[in-house]
Amino acid sequence: MTDAPETTMPNDLSAFWMPFTANRQFKQKPRMLIRADGMHYTSSDNRQILDGTAGLWCVNAGHRRKEITEAVARQLDELDYAPAFQMGHPRIFELAARLVNLMPEGINHAFFTNSGSESVETSLKMALAYHRARGEGSRFRLIGRERGYHGVNFGGISVGGMVANRKMFGTLLTGVDHIRHTHDPERNAFTKGQPEYGAEFADDLERLVALHDASTIAAVIVEPIAGSTGVLIPPRGYLQRLRDICDRHGILLIFDEVITGFGRVGAPFASELFDVTPDIITTAKGLTNGVVPMGAVFVRDHVHEAFMQGPDDVIDFFHGYTYSGNPVAAAAGLACLDVYIRENLFTRAAELAGYWQDALHGLKGLPHVIDIRNFGLIGAIELEPIADKPTKRAFSAFLAAYDEGLMIRTTGDTIALSPPLIIERQEIDKLFDILTGVLKNLD
Ligand SMILES: Cc1ncc(COP(=O)(O)O)c(C=O)c1O
Repeated sequence: MTDAPETTMPNDLSAFWMPFTANRQFKQKPRMLIRADGMHYTSSDNRQILDGTAGLWCVNAGHRRKEITEAVARQLDELDYAPAFQMGHPRIFELAARLVNLMPEGINHAFFTNSGSESVETSLKMALAYHRARGEGSRFRLIGRERGYHGVNFGGISVGGMVANRKMFGTLLTGVDHIRHTHDPERNAFTKGQPEYGAEFADDLERLVALHDASTIAAVIVEPIAGSTGVLIPPRGYLQRLRDICDRHGILLIFDEVITGFGRVGAPFASELFDVTPDIITTAKGLTNGVVPMGAVFVRDHVHEAFMQGPDDVIDFFHGYTYSGNPVAAAAGLACLDVYIRENLFTRAAELAGYWQDALHGLKGLPHVIDIRNFGLIGAIELEPIADKPTKRAFSAFLAAYDEGLMIRTTGDTIALSPPLIIERQEIDKLFDILTGVLKNLD
């Protein structure tokens, strides 16, 4: 007998208000994961579920990697927490140094956060403060893109372009505008890899410069590949054109690489793969393989230098989180890098891309499939929405796939796939076999 206070019943699901979830529907028929290993989850009804989404685009090295979990355990035993402000610990400096080595040339500084959303907020604040530090405080405007996703905090939803994530939350940040998205199914449907048409969509930034004047614009933020709004691959030449326009007008370019970072596209970062270097890169997710929350913002030298002009004893950036550079997250990040490098996971998506692409595009012609898009180890299957019931058809596919032993993700009426980078060819076959069966039986 203990005299501990009474707790809720173990099977009472009501206390936890789940994020981005239809709570009442879920709790009527819960989908519970109780273990994971490699490419698979185990569900509470003891089924193996093939992970087609690397959790939420984060478990790039596969689940429960011993090297990472052991590094975390050792760190917990050694230094559990250290204050992040005006204090340091060695591992986080080591991680920063190793990470900037992976970055395009000229990006030599990392600022740590705990999530993609926080990385985005940090990057937006950096952009504003950068211009102010240089005596261009009139540059207060932040430009995002329609159909962009940059997390859920106020800055991120303001520059983001997902209606459902914005419409409930009042006026958001002021001084924000959006360039148009790059989705063009009339010209680009069923393109394999980068679409041929649409580089000129970048010129929409010139429209906003003409409207607001460059002297009011601080930064433009885009995902190199938009993930959460249905996987939109940048048309050939588009990102470079955006870079050129930013350069012409003194506007900072921010790439949100929260999902494209850490090997997803077949290189450590999409910036390298597309050969376009932004001024700031936001990351999270694959940084620690999802094991411990952590994000990082990487900045080019000129951005960092602008903050280092005042007296040495004055704080250079009034921003940071209690857990910026947490030792346990740092240990996870370091061990994770070791795994990525030893197993060549930063380039594995490029090796598998052809096989993945063929298997994915093999779904063309199945019922309701109106577009298929891919890049690296990313895939999207867009379904025709049920009339007056947008998102229903894809969500039904998600439920059916789970019953058949496959985890997929849906956004709108698009199925998004992003398996761990350790996936083997026969697992790719299995994934698409299950999905084919699901799509054939969909209403
Ligand atoms: C491009 C992008 N930015 C930001 C985020 C937000 O990351 P988090 O959920 O870790 O806050 C996400 C999450 O999916 C993302 O895809």
